[in-house]
Amino acid sequence: MHLSARFFAGLSIFLATAGSCRRNQYIVPGATWYDTSGAVLSAHAGGIVESDGVWYWFGQNERQEDKALFSGINVYSSSDLLNWDYRGRALSPINGTDISPDRVVERPKSVFNAATQEWVLWFHSDNSTYGLLQQGVATSPNVTGPYTFQDVFSPLGGTSQDFGLFQDIDGESYALYSNGDADAAHDNLITRMNANYTNVEEVVYTFFDFDLEAPNMLFTGERYYILMSHKTGYRPNNVVVFSADKIAGPWSIQSYIAPSGTRTFNTQSTMTIKVNGSHAKTFIYCGDQWSTSADLYDSRYVWLPADINDHTGSFTIDWHDLYTVDTKTGVITYPEGTVYEAEHGVVTGSAYATICPTCSGSKIVTGITGNASLALHNIVGTGEPQWVSFYYHNPDGLFGDNRGVSGQSFIIARFASVSVNGAPPVMLRQRDGNAGIILSQPLNVTFNRGGGNTIEISGFNGGPAADLDKIVVYGNIYKD
Ligand SMILES: *[C@@H]1O[C@H](CO)[C@@H](O)[C@H](O)[C@H]1NC(C)=O
Ligand SMILES: *[C@@H]1O[C@H](CO)[C@@H](O)[C@H](O)[C@H]1NC(C)=O
Ligand SMILES: *[C@@H]1O[C@H](CO)[C@@H](O)[C@H](O)[C@H]1NC(C)=O
Ligand SMILES: *[C@@H]1O[C@H](CO)[C@@H](O)[C@H](O)[C@H]1NC(C)=O
Ligand SMILES: *[C@@H]1O[C@H](CO)[C@@H](O)[C@H](O)[C@H]1NC(C)=O
Ligand SMILES: *[C@@H]1O[C@H](CO)[C@@H](O)[C@H](O)[C@H]1NC(C)=O
Ligand SMILES: *[C@@H]1O[C@H](CO)[C@@H](O)[C@H](O)[C@H]1NC(C)=O
Repeated sequence: MHLSARFFAGLSIFLATAGSCRRNQYIVPGATWYDTSGAVLSAHAGGIVESDGVWYWFGQNERQEDKALFSGINVYSSSDLLNWDYRGRALSPINGTDISPDRVVERPKSVFNAATQEWVLWFHSDNSTYGLLQQGVATSPNVTGPYTFQDVFSPLGGTSQDFGLFQDIDGESYALYSNGDADAAHDNLITRMNANYTNVEEVVYTFFDFDLEAPNMLFTGERYYILMSHKTGYRPNNVVVFSADKIAGPWSIQSYIAPSGTRTFNTQSTMTIKVNGSHAKTFIYCGDQWSTSADLYDSRYVWLPADINDHTGSFTIDWHDLYTVDTKTGVITYPEGTVYEAEHGVVTGSAYATICPTCSGSKIVTGITGNASLALHNIVGTGEPQWVSFYYHNPDGLFGDNRGVSGQSFIIARFASVSVNGAPPVMLRQRDGNAGIILSQPLNVTFNRGGGNTIEISGFNGGPAADLDKIVVYGNIYKD
């Protein structure tokens, strides 16, 4: 707790100076993302919809300065999936209604209804103790809103926890949700909406007793896939996928979408982007990397291209530090970086290089603490802000998905202190994985132009840092 308080105090200074209208070059999973005005992009547990070549991303506003339980639904737009214009509040709280600031409005998803020519924004609706378990709708003639609040309801008289939405190519739309945690519940439902998308009409499939949440569905043109997470609050777990050739099923058995032990790269499923390009049909998994409930504003987005095989029903993601997607062709490009192995660095104190079967070069540096550091020398830089990915090993969360630690908000992380060319150090959060699992965390670094740069890594505030496998130095953050 002590550590994170210091970390967040430092972070807000960093965020306050990050304003920029420069154009992003890459999608960078796990970094802090900014909109085109330079403000931190706040669109959590979101939904995304494409209209005329523009993507509209809706999500919960969780800005640091907005303390209300419900402070609004933000909407952003982009034509390249890299640079997001803030389009304002799609839905704002109204005192004395079911969307007042002391109520829960979560997991917003918008969909266009051709019959009414209206956009319909759906969300999970609840009171602060999550005892109502309802769904809500708001409508607007314009995709960006502002949406007019219409109603909250108990779907078919039942309960609804979390919320996902899927629109099929035949124009039918479906509400995806769990029926809650009561003894008689623990199911996951796919429920068809009415013709105007203002309520639900018929349950078309039930995953009995699966006890999952955070559903989202996609259609490849051949096969339907539904992703769901386990119920571990803000702690991440192994997201699962089922597939079917009809929405009414039968659905396949479940499988993990990411390597076991990574807890879906520390994320929870929220939405999928479809880029139906001229060369490739590309799907991007979008997960929330939640911070603690007290620091939701620092939750990150992890978007990773999906590898889908309609013949086997396989849907998997692999880690990529950064990439671009051409929204016209659908082609994804993974730029190469320059690798600097930790074992080639200079260690002090208790830090030492040791053998590691899952590491790059089969070596890693362990024992990094507040007074035991690792220095990597002769790093070549551009003189402009660059992305540097730190590949680390933090097995503190060895016991799997749900450690049963007190409070939903407990996130296990180590904190490294990173200093470039002797400058004041910045904090690098290194969230836990499992034994032998190497994860990667990006950092925005400005080196001097040319060779001769040094990065020194130690434990933040005297604590232990994660073991370090390597760093990868990529190109400039911005296009200029
Ligand atoms: C990267 O750091 C530079 C220099 O501090 C800052 O101006 C810029 O806004 C940062 N960009 C991102 C995307 O973090
Ligand atoms: C809504 O209620 C809050 C808290 O009672 C109050 O501070 C705020 O001014 C009210 N807003 C409006 C628009 O009435
Ligand atoms: C939320 O609703 C449930 C069910 O009506 C109720 O038992 C609970 O007291 C409510 N919580 C609050 C904070 O009003
Ligand atoms: C919808 O957008 C159009 C064009 O931008 C604008 O003229 C109109 O006022 C908007 N309608 C609403 C209800 O916001
Ligand atoms: C659906 O929308 C149309 C057009 O707005 C309206 O006339 C009709 O009453 C609505 N139907 C329902 C069931 O709400
Ligand atoms: C992709 O676009 C083509 C051409 O517009 C269309 O026929 C096809 O159904 C689309 N596929 C998906 C999965 O949306
Ligand atoms: C390193 O730091 C720890 C914690 O601050 C301290 O207990 C230990 O004595 C230090 N070790 C050395 C060699 O300075």
